[in-house]
Amino acid sequence: MSIEATKTVGELAAEVPNATREFEKLGIDYCCGGSRTLGEACAEARISIEDALARLRNGLAAAQPKPGREWKQDPLAELIAHICNTHHVFVRQEIPRIEQLAEKVMSVHGANHAELFEVQALFATLADELGVHLMKEEQVLFPYIVRLEEAALAHEPGPAAMFGTVVNPVRMMMQDHDGAGNVLKKLREITSNYAVPGDACASYRALYEALPAFEADLHQHIHLENNILFPRAVAMELGAA
Ligand SMILES: [Fe+2]
Ligand SMILES: [Fe+2]
Repeated sequence: MSIEATKTVGELAAEVPNATREFEKLGIDYCCGGSRTLGEACAEARISIEDALARLRNGLAAAQPKPGREWKQDPLAELIAHICNTHHVFVRQEIPRIEQLAEKVMSVHGANHAELFEVQALFATLADELGVHLMKEEQVLFPYIVRLEEAALAHEPGPAAMFGTVVNPVRMMMQDHDGAGNVLKKLREITSNYAVPGDACASYRALYEALPAFEADLHQHIHLENNILFPRAVAMELGAA
């Protein structure tokens, strides 16, 4: 496996063990911004390409022999089950908890920390959009991909789709991901990277811990979809055509 500056961030995230962890540390967007080359991403983030390459190589060297599942090869139906059972469950669990915290912290501390009003409003928008997004994936796109894989394994023609080709819903889902990524970036900006002020109460701290954890999980989630599931589904449909 070669680690080169000319590979895209998405390819490296999918192929190199521990790469997503290193990208998080470097502040390189590897899910929505996965189509840029590593060189471009480093230039944009103003970090040295040699440093990024060294970190990726060290991360690879430190990886366990078999770090979890090989999502580049394992059945798509299993990848989809994993996404739904871990990431979709997490999003649905966290949304009401974070919404409640945001409301409470805003009402208590909003007078002294005006950004909390925006935090609450931005998260409410994100929550609404994600709710619809997960439903579209679970009810339309994912079942289609499962049927596509079943047909491919049985050497049968691909299933008929009301949306034409899988490329169309994939493009829509990736647009949703970009939207969610932008809201998360904005949240980070207005909270100065979730810096907890001196007068914060326990709920304030809990909120500023929950939001970056929600962000990290969503990055991993979008990475699995944008960089692995969607490209594999598009290639499978082409093969079945
Ligand atoms: Fe998803
Ligand atoms: Fe998604």
